[in-house]
Amino acid sequence: MKNIILIITIAFLLVQCKSNSNENLKNFWVLGVIADSAMVVSAREEASIIGLAILQKGGNAFDAMIATELALAVSYPIAGNIGGGGFMVYRTNDGKTGSIDYREKAPITATKNMYLDENGEMIKGKSTFGAMAVGIPGTIAGMFKIHKKFGSLPMNELIQPAIELAKTGIVLSENLATRYNNLKMELPKVNNYKSHFEEKNWKKGDTIKYLKLAETLERIRDYGRNEFYRGETAQLIVNYIQELGGIITLDDLKSYKAKWRKPITFQYKDFKITSMSLPSSGGICLAQMLKSIEPFDLTEINHNSTEYIQLLAEAERRSFADRAHYLGDPDFIDVAVDSLFDSKYIKNRMKSFSWKEATNSSELSHGILKGYESDETTHYSIVDKYGNAVAVTTTLNTGFGSNVYVRGGGFFLNNEMDDFSAKPGEPNYFGLIGSEANSIAPQKRMLSSMTPSIIEHNGNLKMIVGTPGGSTIITSVFQIILNVIEFNMGMQESVNKARFHHQWLPDEIRMEPNGFDSMTRFRLKNKGYSISERNSMIGRVDAILVLPDGKLEGGADYRGDDKAIGF
Ligand code: DON
Repeated sequence: MKNIILIITIAFLLVQCKSNSNENLKNFWVLGVIADSAMVVSAREEASIIGLAILQKGGNAFDAMIATELALAVSYPIAGNIGGGGFMVYRTNDGKTGSIDYREKAPITATKNMYLDENGEMIKGKSTFGAMAVGIPGTIAGMFKIHKKFGSLPMNELIQPAIELAKTGIVLSENLATRYNNLKMELPKVNNYKSHFEEKNWKKGDTIKYLKLAETLERIRDYGRNEFYRGETAQLIVNYIQELGGIITLDDLKSYKAKWRKPITFQYKDFKITSMSLPSSGGICLAQMLKSIEPFDLTEINHNSTEYIQLLAEAERRSFADRAHYLGDPDFIDVAVDSLFDSKYIKNRMKSFSWKEATNSSELSHGILKGYESDETTHYSIVDKYGNAVAVTTTLNTGFGSNVYVRGGGFFLNNEMDDFSAKPGEPNYFGLIGSEANSIAPQKRMLSSMTPSIIEHNGNLKMIVGTPGGSTIITSVFQIILNVIEFNMGMQESVNKARFHHQWLPDEIRMEPNGFDSMTRFRLKNKGYSISERNSMIGRVDAILVLPDGKLEGGADYRGDDKAIGF
């Protein structure tokens, strides 16, 4: 009898192993790259190598950041960019924290209803595809502003590696080859010329060069920031956008400015977390989510168990409901930021939480703030040998942005305009809805979910983390932080773990394929949760953990071609 039970058990485990093969594979690879003092973790090996070379040369984390950002613009044009924007959160070795916003802005002639037809309905694809989807790019302005404040090596030395990379070319991974073959079908729908992407059928191992981009970067190296916003590159952008029926003018480019912002800083237990402030919702929502679960004893709850998913999903649901109502560009609307993660307010928001059953999103709205009056991306993490740390998330929005590939310029323009709420209650590409706070207005910045974050413990640097993934960015960062802080996982192990996501509307928990057992899903469904098991991964986290002995452990996401390297 015993033997029969044993055989049945083994058979059951084998079946489980097979159906969860990804999960099991991941769990064997749990130790990340370890380095003594400096590290870069990014979406592409070329970019990580270039960033690290700058650090080896004696450059600081900010120098490496600029070189890595531009190297990603060459090696990972899905999201790396000079035609998009992003955010950087930093912590210098003397413990000072800060952030910069080089997010795109709406054009001067943008209007609230620019994506609606005469019946007030959304015009399909107008905010995501083609010249009308483009926001004013901020990346080059951001790089020069960062360099002015923190750069220690000359800017031309930081730009040069990306130029060389563009000229030598990139050897395609399987992932990139597939993406480029798909892109080939889309480009002619938007552009009026044939670019080098369309020359052939791409396969793994092929080399692709970016000669026009190399020329653009050379001009930026030689003539500086103004080359992009006032010079030949500006002219190339404006001419091309206007040829394609877009509304961006030279005045739009001339008036763009990146901005230093006070980051969101808060305490979770004895950890200090610094994350991105508005116009990203990332820091505020992360604070809300962590504060919502802080009173619960997580030592009693297993990782990724029914109860764990339930608790986090309810925190996520409430935070996204607030996001949709309250958050937008702080230069345009007043947001009572601190009140949104005030303990009393959060406690009140969680009052309706019950272990017995799911809250219904249609019965949950944003919270009431006291005294409140009105209202494909990529992440990389860097630590230098001096102890400075940067967390950077940058994007064109969806993969290759608007698909507008600047003729003569060799780079993609973003489709960040879709991050605005084009119509109240109407979901954007990521299914996010918004309200007046995030409506379109000239020169306004669209609300983001990007959450580059830095965690400290007892005054010391502990972790640098962030990810792409649209709305799932915030919930991925939330879970990674908990994996490390509450479940003592290492960095790579934490990155490998399966992730889930709730964003209030649609009222569902999205789960990664193969990451959760059927009993957990069954129990959640029983409590009234609807589960969406789309066959896609959530995020690409690139993070660094400072180990107790001061060494660094990289967590490079196996979900992409991501790479951690250090010395
Ligand atoms: O700023 C945002 O929140 C979005 N534009 C991010 C887009 C993104 O993460 C796409 N990657 N999967």
